[in-house]
Amino acid sequence: MQPSPSKNLLQISDLSKVFTIRRGLSSIKFQAVDHASLTIQAEKPEIFTLAGESGSGKTTLARMVLGLQDPSDGHIYYKGVDITGISRKQRRDWFMREVQPIFQDPFATFSPLKKVDTYLFETAKHYGAKSSDRGRNLVDQTLTSVGLSLREVAGRYPNELSGGQIQRISVARALLTAPSLLVADEPVSMVDASLRMSIVNLFKTLKEERNLSVLYITHDLATAYYLADRIAVMLRGWIVESGPVERVLGNPLHPYTQLLKGSIPLADPDRRWDEKADLAPMDIEEYTRAGCRFADRCPHVMDICRRQVPPDYEVEGRTVKCFLYDPAGAGVPVPSQAALDSGAIHHA
Ligand SMILES: Nc1ncnc2c1ncn2[C@@H]1O[C@H](COP(=O)(O)OP(=O)(O)OP(=O)(O)O)[C@@H](O)[C@H]1O
Ligand SMILES: [Mg+2]
Repeated sequence: MQPSPSKNLLQISDLSKVFTIRRGLSSIKFQAVDHASLTIQAEKPEIFTLAGESGSGKTTLARMVLGLQDPSDGHIYYKGVDITGISRKQRRDWFMREVQPIFQDPFATFSPLKKVDTYLFETAKHYGAKSSDRGRNLVDQTLTSVGLSLREVAGRYPNELSGGQIQRISVARALLTAPSLLVADEPVSMVDASLRMSIVNLFKTLKEERNLSVLYITHDLATAYYLADRIAVMLRGWIVESGPVERVLGNPLHPYTQLLKGSIPLADPDRRWDEKADLAPMDIEEYTRAGCRFADRCPHVMDICRRQVPPDYEVEGRTVKCFLYDPAGAGVPVPSQAALDSGAIHHA
C-alpha cells in the first residue's frame, strides 16, 4: 500500500523517465528511471542516499525532483502536494525556496567574473532580507553555519577560493532560502579528497542543527554508510534495494548491492568504491532485456530472472527487487537462511 503523501516530506511514487537514444540509423527507447518509489519522512529530518553505478539514473531522478526534467510517468509529492502539476508561480515562490539543489561542480554554479558574495547578497535580498544590514547579517550568519565568514569571502572571485570553500558557499547560498530539503548530487566528488569529509560532516550538522533533510546522491558507499539514515540502491533505472543504511549496507541482500559493497571496505571513507568496483559500462541491452536487468551479471541467476521482472519484496526491514527473496519460491528453490549463512549466497 502506498503511504499517504501528506505524511512525508518527499514522496516519489512510480516515477519513470524514458529517453530515446540513437543507435546507427535506428533509435532505442529506454527507461533511465523505471517506476522508482521512495519517501523522505516528515517527522524528523533524515539523510536519504541514492547510490548506484554510473548511468543508473540517479541524476535523472534528482533532476525530476528539482523540476529540471519532466517525468514520463509517476508522481512527486512534496509536503503532500503533487509538484508535477503545480503552476510556474507556485514552483518559483514556494517549491524552489523549499527544495534547494547542490550540484557536483561548485565552480559551475558561480560565474568566474562575479564576486561570490554578490550571489549571496542577491539571494538574501530576493528571499526577504529587506535592508542591506539585514542582508549582511543573514549572509554572515549563514556563512558561519557552513564554517566560513563574510570576512573570508567578501570581494573574492571563485578562482580565489578552494573547491571546498566554494562548495560551502553554494551550500550557504542554498540555506539562505530556509529550505527543508537539499538535493545534493555528488556534492563532494569534485572536492579535494582532504576536504571531502569536512563537507560531508557539514550535511550531518545541517540535519541536526537546522532540521534539514538531504537527498544525497553518491557513488561512494563509505560516505553513504557514514552519513545516511536510509539508502536506495539504483541499477539501470530500478531501485533494487532500499531501507535503513545499516541494514542495506551492513547486510546487503540484493546480489547487486553485495557486488557494490564487496568492492569497498566501508571503514575507509577516503576510498571511493568506483575506483575498484568491477562494474559494467553503459549497456543499453541491460535496460531493454526481458526479466531482471542484473541477470547477466548475477552469480545467483535463476531461470525466472531471465523471463520476468522481479517484484519488490519486503525482507528483513528493507525492500529488495530479487526473486531470491520470493517467499513462495517463484517456481524455483529459495535459499534457506542456512544457505545464506553458509555463504552459498554470498554476503559481502
Ligand atoms: N537527456 C538524455 N538523453 C538520453 N539519455 C540520457 C539523457 N540523460 C541521461 N541519459 C542516460 O540515462 C542514463 C542515466 O543517466 P544519469 O545521468 O541519471 O545516471 P547517474 O546514475 O547519475 O550516473 P553518474 O553516476 O555517472 O552521474 C544514462 O544511461 C545516461 O546516458
Ligand atoms: Mg549523475
